[in-house]
Amino acid sequence: MRNYFYTTIFSVALVLISCGKANEKDAMATTESGSNTINKKVDSLLAIMTIEEKVGQMNQYNGFWNVTGPTPSEGGAAKKYEHLKKGYVGSMLNVRGVEEVRAVQKIAVEETRLGIPLIIGFDVIHGYETLSPIPLAEAASWDLEAIKKSAAIAAKESAAAGINWTFAPMVDISRDARWGRVMEGAGEDPYLGSKIAVARVQGFQGDDLASPNTIAACAKHFAGYGFAESGRDYNTVDVGTSTLNNIIFPPFKAAAQAGVKTFMNAFNELNGVPATGNAYLQRDILKSKWNYDGFVVSDWGSLNEMIAHGFAANKKEVAELAVKAGSDMDMESYAYVEELANLVKEDKVDEGLINDAVKRILRVKYELGLFDDPYKYCDESREKEVIGSQEINDAVLDIAKKSIVLLKNEGNLLPLKKEGQNIALIGALANDKTSPLGSWRIAAKDSTAISVLEGLQNYKGNTISYAKGADVTIGKGEFAIELNINTTDKSGFSKAISTAKRADVVVMVLGEHGFQSGEGRSRSELGLPGVQQELLEAVYKVNKNIVLVLNNGRPLTINWADAHVPAILEAWQLGTQSGHAIAQVLYGDYNPSGKLPMTFPKSVGQVPIYYNYKNTGRPKLPAPNEVFWSHYTDQSNAPLYPFGYGLSYTTFAYSNLNVQVVSKNEVQVSVDLKNTGKVTGKEVVQLYIRDLFASVTRPVKELKGFELVELDAGISKTIHFVLTEKELGFYDNEGHFIIEPGKFNVFVGGSSNTNLEANFDLE
Ligand code: NOJ
Repeated sequence: MRNYFYTTIFSVALVLISCGKANEKDAMATTESGSNTINKKVDSLLAIMTIEEKVGQMNQYNGFWNVTGPTPSEGGAAKKYEHLKKGYVGSMLNVRGVEEVRAVQKIAVEETRLGIPLIIGFDVIHGYETLSPIPLAEAASWDLEAIKKSAAIAAKESAAAGINWTFAPMVDISRDARWGRVMEGAGEDPYLGSKIAVARVQGFQGDDLASPNTIAACAKHFAGYGFAESGRDYNTVDVGTSTLNNIIFPPFKAAAQAGVKTFMNAFNELNGVPATGNAYLQRDILKSKWNYDGFVVSDWGSLNEMIAHGFAANKKEVAELAVKAGSDMDMESYAYVEELANLVKEDKVDEGLINDAVKRILRVKYELGLFDDPYKYCDESREKEVIGSQEINDAVLDIAKKSIVLLKNEGNLLPLKKEGQNIALIGALANDKTSPLGSWRIAAKDSTAISVLEGLQNYKGNTISYAKGADVTIGKGEFAIELNINTTDKSGFSKAISTAKRADVVVMVLGEHGFQSGEGRSRSELGLPGVQQELLEAVYKVNKNIVLVLNNGRPLTINWADAHVPAILEAWQLGTQSGHAIAQVLYGDYNPSGKLPMTFPKSVGQVPIYYNYKNTGRPKLPAPNEVFWSHYTDQSNAPLYPFGYGLSYTTFAYSNLNVQVVSKNEVQVSVDLKNTGKVTGKEVVQLYIRDLFASVTRPVKELKGFELVELDAGISKTIHFVLTEKELGFYDNEGHFIIEPGKFNVFVGGSSNTNLEANFDLE
């Protein structure tokens, strides 16, 4: 085979692929980085590929390799192995570690006719082996540099393990805390979500994709996945054009513009058409309107799921519909590899579509430098040196501290005194070294997170007495599948109560287990799971001096705690360095600066709840005792904690909000911010607008700017924003971006519920 290739093809193709021999390798290397050069190389290679080899590039398999060879126990492994050797596999996922990656890459490069390297994908969602906070937590930092750094660190560590493509960032906007995957995104707001999408793409991909420390990113799940009905994962999505264009699309568009190399489509149907077979999404919007030239990978088995959706009758139809709709790579459906070549031969699918998909995939492989050196991510010494290094641990600790949100601090119970205190530490999560890793932690080892107990023990001046109190559960009965734990056991209460009685301060770490959010982990209730609420109330009866540290992957309805407990710290799932980050904030060595990226509801019945809602025709109580207005009869409309909310150990005052309209493309806004407390602190200054009357109604508030500002006690600073057409306009129902003259409100403050307001008219 290889002889055939080199005698007949080498003279035709100017630039070819790696074969393990130095001179031939040189001929194929990407010496120029320009996209023209890459396009020429891609064209030359495409010209010599058979239809089966082309389709092979569009086929992605899950790992079946066990370092020394294919895993015999796994069904279909023999077939996958066969396909790999024939060059019918373009990518693999969940193959990790240099030895394993090298083994599969070697087959692709050295045993197939064309030797095209594999692109190796993995869910590097918030780190590889060393974990950063879950993405929702990172979003609470509003610190784009820190978020970018976190992605860069994740890229470096995973690249050292042979990975060159992550299925991240997830840029799905969601307003529904029931949906388990809110932990994986940046929350509810398209403006913040877009900024974070860009930071993450830049972090993963860096300035040079060909560097062995950077990896290709993937904006997912295109589109609408975060709007699953009832917050139930994989459920139907039905949204109108205004929400699609103004809320769902912006972070995807921002990622595309930031040069994200790949997109992933989604499991859900959108308005009756599964995302995987959705030509409107993938062809009309992404590849035409946005001119996107990267490739689209399907979600796991999402091609075949179009049968269950009732959209395609069989695998052949699946393949035809997906490729026509613009899905370039099939993740684990076997539909392309089994059906596409025949569909082309039968003239049912134009080969031009296949060529386009393959070009997109090959381009990314060239850009990653895989044709220059397919083993560039396979350096054992780098793997040893980088994974778990001090540099990576320092970086994840830094972002972990920045992700914590102080929700309540009555009587300045926090920060804790460093000496002479008897502290009761209560809750199963306080002594858990696995849960803080959160969901999406495939490569992390269990029990590698710093627990809160360990974090507090690092401070020697106080006495810490620990009592578990109660287990944390991840579900009820048959749904508690992953942890075999008792959900109703209260036998630990008495020890917890006696420990609390003797304490000066009680630190209770309660919330969700790390596995209670993430894919397939939707909830119908949002309170503290199991008997934790009862535990909290029982402890409160004997000692009211409680600091509640929440661990959770989504907003929770903690109304009782908010009404009774003096101090509440939202600590999410913060990753490997969790306990150190929490201890440093509890002791005031880091002044909390996080702000919620998602609204906390008062009850599940309020969900979906979000700050940028529409006013409706009946927004207010018209007269006392009136009932016909948009409200609940048993709950207020207000959230427990609004989007953008978060306290500090210092206080900030806003004044002198000033607005000047220079032109319709330049509205200048300034405000004075003063640190009115006693310690240095950081504030996220947030700017919202309201377009009062428009041809398509606009939300009551929309975030259009923010700045993270650090100020010493007593110091003031003037903060400036400029609003341009980009911030002042919106998408109409035909998907056109328009800007309309009229009246606007501007709001500035430290939370979305700020009422510091100014107005302007746009001519
Ligand atoms: C399914 C998830 O929806 C997706 O986000 C992930 O990247 C793939 N599985 C691969 O693990």
